[in-house]
Amino acid sequence: MTSDVIDWDNAYRGQGVFEGPPPWNIGEPQPELAALHRAGKFRSDVLDAGCGHAELSLALAADGLTVVGIDLSPTAVAAANKAAQERNLANASFVQADITSFTGYDGRFNTVIDSTLFHSLPIEGRDGYLRSVHRAAASGAAYYILVFAKGAFPAEMEPKPHEVDEAELRAAVSKYWQIDEIRSAFIHANAMAIPDAPFEMPSHGTDEKGRMKFPAFLLSAHKA
Ligand SMILES: C[S@@+](CC[C@H](N)C(=O)[O-])C[C@H]1O[C@@H](n2cnc3c(N)ncnc32)[C@H](O)[C@@H]1O
Repeated sequence: MTSDVIDWDNAYRGQGVFEGPPPWNIGEPQPELAALHRAGKFRSDVLDAGCGHAELSLALAADGLTVVGIDLSPTAVAAANKAAQERNLANASFVQADITSFTGYDGRFNTVIDSTLFHSLPIEGRDGYLRSVHRAAASGAAYYILVFAKGAFPAEMEPKPHEVDEAELRAAVSKYWQIDEIRSAFIHANAMAIPDAPFEMPSHGTDEKGRMKFPAFLLSAHKA
């Protein structure tokens, strides 16, 4: 499915709108998801949907979980596979595929994690995505989505991620999954340099590492 947000592979090749590495490449898992991992919420096998450079998957694999990451960008998938090899993580594998229509993993995963993928998909891709990951999940599997909340980006920014409000997120996900909780959360990202941008980024505050903290939702659900 063609993206209406950004050319993802270009961004990873340093040829996109950003100067330098993409702002979501923070060199570690998103803190909200790292906290869930520390709390023991993730069970093997894990699907990292839209894994990118896959610091989340790599951290889980280093702790012994078997992880599969799927991403549209061949550049990101190659980087993730290289990192797994360098870190001797034979239990982590990464595959290039479109998450809105992938097949071949029916009933396999006990955990599905979406670390900032949901808002990266075209709105018309959401249903295929939710259906595909539901099919790939085992009965009772847990599902987590970390997604930008409305207002994260300036109204004039175009294109921008498809931020959600709580009702919209609930309506989309509940078609396939049993929702347990939707709560406010943060997405951490490096400062964005978009040359000649005709808008100001809102100041949402920063974390202890100086990264921007964007308003988000963390959704927890399970497969009945
Ligand atoms: C904002 S990045 C997040 C990457 C990673 N999960 C993280 O937390 O750093 C969104 C990712 O979704 C991937 N993506 C976008 N559309 C996709 C699709 N249709 N199928 C698979 N991956 C997709 C992009 O290539 C990108 O790596």
